[in-house]
Amino acid sequence: MPPSPEDRPAETPERPEIAQALNPAAAPVNDRRPAAGISPSPSGGNAPAGTPSSAGEFLDSILQSKSELYRGSREVLRDSYIPSRLPHREQQIRQVAEVLAPALRGDTPSNLLIYGKIGTGKTAVVAQVRQDILRRVDPSGQLTFVTLNCGNIDTPYSLLQTIGNSFARTEPDRIPTGWSLDRVQAAMRRLMDTKGGTILLVLDEIDRLVARSGDNVLYTLSQINTELEVARLVLIGISNDLKFTNHLDARVRSRLNEEKILFPPYDAVQLQDILRDRAREAFKDGVVDPGVVERCAAYAALENGDARRALALLRLASEMAERDHAKRITPDHVVKAKNRLEQDIIVECVRTLPPHCKVLLYAILQSFERRRNGVLTGEVYDSYKRLAERLGLQPLHARSISNYVSELESLGLIRATIVSRGRGGRTREILVDVPISETMPALEEDPLISPVGRPKPRGQMLLTNFDNPGRTGPL
Ligand SMILES: Nc1ncnc2c1ncn2[C@@H]1O[C@H](COP(=O)(O)OP(=O)(O)OP(=O)(O)O)[C@@H](O)[C@H]1O
Ligand SMILES: [Mg+2]
Repeated sequence: MPPSPEDRPAETPERPEIAQALNPAAAPVNDRRPAAGISPSPSGGNAPAGTPSSAGEFLDSILQSKSELYRGSREVLRDSYIPSRLPHREQQIRQVAEVLAPALRGDTPSNLLIYGKIGTGKTAVVAQVRQDILRRVDPSGQLTFVTLNCGNIDTPYSLLQTIGNSFARTEPDRIPTGWSLDRVQAAMRRLMDTKGGTILLVLDEIDRLVARSGDNVLYTLSQINTELEVARLVLIGISNDLKFTNHLDARVRSRLNEEKILFPPYDAVQLQDILRDRAREAFKDGVVDPGVVERCAAYAALENGDARRALALLRLASEMAERDHAKRITPDHVVKAKNRLEQDIIVECVRTLPPHCKVLLYAILQSFERRRNGVLTGEVYDSYKRLAERLGLQPLHARSISNYVSELESLGLIRATIVSRGRGGRTREILVDVPISETMPALEEDPLISPVGRPKPRGQMLLTNFDNPGRTGPL
């Protein structure tokens, strides 16, 4: 997510560890601290890149180079990987565990809200505490974790349906689409009571749910214990919007806020520790040159101390090295990785939008591509509706789509400006803020959109990116 203007870091780094990592020439070479356990090697390592003459040779060369750098699976550098240690989060792990510990004794813990900017380890810490708790209880017992990412869920209806269905043991138990909201709620409560015990419901990116659909569903969930007969629900909300509770109804706010834990951003030195741990696990000895970890950490520290960004830089730097057929990753690969990442962030952001938001964005891009001009919100809604119907989806109401327009704007993908229409009042004109040539293919990759996607240009060689098999694009 692009930072908001007030969150944006200053252009010039003031901290010496950042300044030095970004301008290593300023420091004597032997002053540079090699990454612990990562031994420097003497020569440059940029082997001349043989140009493969066919796709087959190219793929073979990628497969061969794979083993040059990595110790084993490259999953170690992925977001989904939960490392065994989370340096600089010991205090937060203990705090989360303290809040949830009563569940181990069969008591009901307080609801918990976790705040912190992006990439500060919120999801990772909760996942680790969850693992630790589940390891200590009988799997058939009275403690259940349900973890949902609200960023991928369109409506309160689908949230409640998904929660309910996570307890369905057989197909007939499942809540189908089409029931009234009240009926879905009642069925969800029944399924929870059938399961019984303490249910720890982790609502990751809870702020996106509230921005999209208000707080009614949180009201329902936060007072559900008065209606449950056997089970007890505990809410664990995770948000990267520090002010999101300001938008909540006072009752919901006080129920959700029973316990609150703040995750501060990492500084450059902390990010170096995180990266060294991962690099040691991911790469063979001697593969990571001095300055690589420092540079990844410095760039990420300037981006609000985001560990995800730091890891993505290291992973991409290794891809750049592989493409160069290099035997080692150098600081120059990190610079290339940074340039590439800036493009990829848009694509990644688009890929994780919820379904109707993707359809909306695709409709906006289509209109914009046709007209090369701003599109008014009324027209956008009509195009979205037509497209949703073509795709066999039940279109959402104009109000939900208007919320999605605001969400796309806050993600920096579009710009909406108010325009006056004389007596016709005011409306919003929407302009696209992303390169259409990269964003449309990213959306068309989704099976949801692909039926209306444009044909792929002939003669363009499309290769699968091996590190990210879901992703296909010109390499
Ligand atoms: N202390 C740490 N040690 C090791 N890895 C970490 C640490 N903190 C974060 N990470 C890694 O950084 C990445 C981002 O962390 P995580 O997803 O937990 O951030 P987040 O705070 O949930 O971000 P967001 O608000 O964007 O969801 C993950 O791959 C995670 O494993
Ligand atoms: Mg997260």
